Amino acid sequence: MKYSLTQQTIGCLFISGVIFMLMACDNDNKSQPAVETFDPQATFRFDTFGDEAFWTDVLRWNEVVATISPETALAVGLKVDSEALPSGLLAAADLTDPATTIELLKLDAIVGIKAEVAADNSVTKFGVTCALCHSTVDDSVAPGIGKRLDGWPARDLNPGLIISLSPFFDDKPQQRAVYESWGPGKFDPYFNMDGINAPVLIPPAWGLKDVALETFTGEGQVSYWNNYIAVTQMGGQGNFKSDHLNLDIQATPDLVTPKLPALLVYQNSLEPPLPPAGSFDPAASLRGKSIFEGKATCARCHSGEQFTDAGTTLHDAQETGSDPLYATRGETKQYRTTPLKGIWQHPPYFHNGAHATLMDLTEHYDTVLGLGLVDDEKTDLVEYLKSL
Ligand code: HEC
Ligand code: HEC
Repeated sequence: MKYSLTQQTIGCLFISGVIFMLMACDNDNKSQPAVETFDPQATFRFDTFGDEAFWTDVLRWNEVVATISPETALAVGLKVDSEALPSGLLAAADLTDPATTIELLKLDAIVGIKAEVAADNSVTKFGVTCALCHSTVDDSVAPGIGKRLDGWPARDLNPGLIISLSPFFDDKPQQRAVYESWGPGKFDPYFNMDGINAPVLIPPAWGLKDVALETFTGEGQVSYWNNYIAVTQMGGQGNFKSDHLNLDIQATPDLVTPKLPALLVYQNSLEPPLPPAGSFDPAASLRGKSIFEGKATCARCHSGEQFTDAGTTLHDAQETGSDPLYATRGETKQYRTTPLKGIWQHPPYFHNGAHATLMDLTEHYDTVLGLGLVDDEKTDLVEYLKSL
């Protein structure tokens, strides 16, 4: 079905929240036929936006996956959704056998991957979804196997390595080497645009409700970035336009734009995870809060409920001692103050993972901002950061 989504409709949907009928508030056009509705969670977890055109036709990952055992899949950071498995399957399964991978694909049990399997067990279509990079599992069955945790950054997933395994790169060793170099938890969403190799961490897709701007450099709002990544990085079939990037991509039918409101609703529903019980010292954390708001001056940028001033200000790289390169590749040339809720969950820190731990990050700020914090103050500040 062809449908063009107007700005007005998007605004209307945003306000109307969870009810997901595209026609619901389109008062101007009552005679229009009902428009397809999209389930927010299913869109995030299972929709490929037609990116099989890239992952199957170009990368031929349908062939690659047939040679990969579940053990290897887990080793590159792919996750298995235990709730999609019939009971007893795992106990009986041979995780070293690629045939088991095919069984998992038939069950839609590999997080972030959608495949079609023919009667002879050959994989005819392979595509990826948002959940590939922005979900993980709780490891409740085994490492890499458990219940889905939507919105959690896939920090042990190695997307570059996964892409590099494609035979498409057999005669392109330099490109393959770039993808191989990224490592777990990182991806470069501009490499295929500007040829620069400087991957960034996969961020959480939770905790973004009420955050004014998305992405490390504050390129725009959630839907802008969802659109960009779905069309230009995942290979989804949809429209995307950006003057700054000199892109005007059109696809008929547009399998991306009509789903952006559903994705937005789902992402806005994902709350940051609370710190595990006993994971920080409450008294020290309370002292750390005063340091955060006082002597350490953190709150002048990490302000408000979401710990970010993104609504009003972006920051030059030197203000935080960040590597400036990534900012130069986007439109804003600056960095957005990162929201801090759930920060305990996803080391390392800063867009490029420059700081391995919260203590490393605190030492860094102490130097760059000339704070003169003593050791106890640093420890207290870290306890506070762990509590957010
Ligand atoms: C191959 C991995 C990958 C896939 C697939 C992917 N993303 Fe991302 N996503 C990233 C990376 C890397 C960034 C960081 C880019 C930046 O901030 O400049 C990012 C950034 C984001 C952000 C910004 C978060 C913030 O802190 O502001 C959101 C929201 C997001 N992605 C949602 C999605 C959605 C929805 C989809 C599916 C349409 C998707 N992503 C698919 C890797 C991925
Ligand atoms: C001048 C504004 C500013 C000040 C002051 C500031 N920050 Fe930040 N903060 C930022 C920006 C911008 C980023 C993103 C940097 C990057 O990704 O390279 C950031 C990133 C972070 C991150 C990493 C989040 C993540 O998910 O990677 C943490 C944690 C953090 N700041 C804590 C603090 C603490 C603690 C202080 C006080 C000692 C502080 N900040 C002071 C602007 C600021």
